[in-house]
Amino acid sequence: RAADGRLLVDLRLQSGRTELLPGRQADTWGINGSYLGPTVRVNRGDVLAPRVRNDLPEATTLHWHGMELPAECDGGPHQMIRPGALWQPAWRVDQPAATLWYHPHPHGRTKEHVYRGVAGLLYVDDGEADGLLPDDYGVDDIPVIVQDRNFTRQGRLDEDGIAFGGLSVTGLLGSEILVNGVWGPVLDVRTERVRLRVLNASNARIYDLVLDHGRGFHVVAGDNGLLPAPVPVDHLRLSPGERAELLVELRPDERVRLRSRPPDLGANLAVDRLAGGADEFDVLELRATPSLRPAPPLPVALPAPPRLAPPLAGRRERVLRFGDFLIDGRTMDLSRIDAVVPLGSTEIWRLRNDVGTPHNFHIHNAAFEVLDVAGRPPGAAWWGRKDTVYVPPDTEVRLLVQFGAYPSPTRPFMFHCHLLAHEDAGMMGQFVLV
Ligand code: C2O
Ligand code: CU
Ligand code: CU
Repeated sequence: RAADGRLLVDLRLQSGRTELLPGRQADTWGINGSYLGPTVRVNRGDVLAPRVRNDLPEATTLHWHGMELPAECDGGPHQMIRPGALWQPAWRVDQPAATLWYHPHPHGRTKEHVYRGVAGLLYVDDGEADGLLPDDYGVDDIPVIVQDRNFTRQGRLDEDGIAFGGLSVTGLLGSEILVNGVWGPVLDVRTERVRLRVLNASNARIYDLVLDHGRGFHVVAGDNGLLPAPVPVDHLRLSPGERAELLVELRPDERVRLRSRPPDLGANLAVDRLAGGADEFDVLELRATPSLRPAPPLPVALPAPPRLAPPLAGRRERVLRFGDFLIDGRTMDLSRIDAVVPLGSTEIWRLRNDVGTPHNFHIHNAAFEVLDVAGRPPGAAWWGRKDTVYVPPDTEVRLLVQFGAYPSPTRPFMFHCHLLAHEDAGMMGQFVLV
């Protein structure tokens, strides 16, 4: 913390070597280390002042996904950091507690940069849930960054097929799962209840998280804030860029696996297979110790952020039509503004996926609620205050979107599909806040 109270965070993007598979070395990229980066923790009201040094051999950016902030601090494709350069944005964090993340966003190269390992978690805390939820970092409050990767026979990261092309419809799907950069991860659990902050930081893979033996768990937060109460579920789908906070209960000595079962993508059979709809994986093994410390009891209610209030009548409505790697028939143009949004407004965005390909959608500097999916009330995977959402094939998803309060008449924010090969292929647009 600087003398003036700013929270200084040194983040050095660097290349290195990491043992991703046991006994094998891979060339990787990371932040303050060789793969992934530190969890950055800020309190609501703090001025966050990252100092981002790019020691990678390529120009890149660092974007704060889910953060409300001035456009010049956003780290989108307009804030490129040349190799050897230092980028120092600073802004006051003023939004509800949430599990956010950071990752590169250079136009056309995001998929490679994230795949090589540049990503990390960014927690906003506001003290509202103190004592209600497990919050001992790394003890009962556990970061779970889920990524799929392919490896060459030598154990190096295999980037083959990372771009859209050939048989791939959503981008690279890996056959190996890493959690926090670890293959075959095991978590020793010492408390009766753990909070898992799960981030899908994969390029294209969509997971459907379950526990062994159909055991249930509770969801307490979506992408961008707490839910009003814990929701009991027996599975949860998570598409790239989405986060969820889960509460899992264990008994002494128990072993429970967090797995991913074949996700329901809502696609036809051929597309479903190509998009990973038939794949299943072990994600994380939870091993309870013989005696478990007590945990805060399951809360009946949570201090969720205020709803993005109706009335819906009279709201500005926009329709965005998704084609294959196009939005409204257009490919991303860094010099074109696609939407002008009145500062601080709340709008209805209708995402119309007009094709048979799975897509998802993320808006910078905004939070939204999902109003409906194909005209019906959304299931648990769509609940809460969000910033990223799955958009099934041939389906309309309707959002109520609250935009950030920092004016940005000249510098644009992005909206895009967060399947990274689609994003890089141009499935992105830009808006300004006036
Ligand atoms: Cu997580 Cu525009 O990105
Ligand atoms: Cu973002
Ligand atoms: Cu897409």
